[in-house]
Amino acid sequence: MTAALRDDAMRGLTSQPKWLPPKWFYDARGSELFEKITELPEYYPTRTERELLRRYATEVAAVSQADVLVELGSGSSEKTRLLLSALRDQGSLHMYVPQDVSESALTSAAAQITEEFPGLAVHGVISDFTDTLHNLPRGKRRMIAFLGGTIGNLVPDERAEFLAGVRDVLGPGEQLLLGIGLVTDPAVLVPAYDDAAGVTAEFNRNVLHVLNSRLDGDFRPDRFKHVAVWDADNEWIEMRLVASAAMRAHIRALDLTVDFAAGEELRTEISAKFRLDGFEAELSASGFGVERVWTDPLQRFALVLAGRQ
Ligand code: SAH
Ligand code: TRP
Repeated sequence: MTAALRDDAMRGLTSQPKWLPPKWFYDARGSELFEKITELPEYYPTRTERELLRRYATEVAAVSQADVLVELGSGSSEKTRLLLSALRDQGSLHMYVPQDVSESALTSAAAQITEEFPGLAVHGVISDFTDTLHNLPRGKRRMIAFLGGTIGNLVPDERAEFLAGVRDVLGPGEQLLLGIGLVTDPAVLVPAYDDAAGVTAEFNRNVLHVLNSRLDGDFRPDRFKHVAVWDADNEWIEMRLVASAAMRAHIRALDLTVDFAAGEELRTEISAKFRLDGFEAELSASGFGVERVWTDPLQRFALVLAGRQ
């Protein structure tokens, strides 16, 4: 993992504009900060998706009949319990495979689920979902869940590549369950990524703490300002860190000096929001057929169940 971080940091911080891939937010502190985000009044996606799962998990389970539930970017697996309970009650489920880059989040989630679901085999996988889908366990009728709107953190090309990769590891009839954020009022969207208490700002700056601790850097995270902008053309929120003054940082493990002009931006993440028709077209272009869609009354979030054709 450190080799990948080194490569990404070298490439991103010597590009113009500077950027860093989002998976490096999630060390133990990053995962804890993300859990705090999910509890913020402004961050509606988690609550909305939980409500959808509370209402519809039984329907998902009935349509799915999965024997293995694989979950990509599972984090704390908090909402997944609703799905696991429904699949268990319906009788088909044997195994749960949470997968995440964050070892701390995965280890504690797997331990809790093992305790709460006696008889269920739980096999955590620590890996990057953009490059290691082939070593996921086999099953007769697997469902891959990808919740939390995390698919929106991939840019369109990465998204197409990701969906093609998932299609390649699934057999015909196996399923993908996606939780996606829908395009909604920017007055609701933007505060979800720029909360009043500043938790999201701290989460965004965490990527600089990660560079400091893992690559022996000397960034001053407190001197970067968090910005979240709604890009109406691309229909995504873009997160950036803006240098509050001209600054120089060193990354000793890379023997790299990084200069920032005052006001210079470092791009850290996008969170794309979708329209259902466009998203269904992307799925079908990747070899999936949409079987069911559930949305909340305010149309801010959707659960999409798709079958590998
Ligand atoms: N599914 C959870 C967490 C969403 S946050 C929820 O809905 O609340 C995104 C999660 O994806 C984090 O747990 C993060 O560690 C993980 N993640 C981000 N990039 C990843 C990657 N490239 N490979 C694997 N996991 C990744
Ligand atoms: N998957 C989450 C989302 O797009 C990740 C996330 C939430 C996030 N808040 C963030 C990423 C703030 C970066 C910064 O909603």
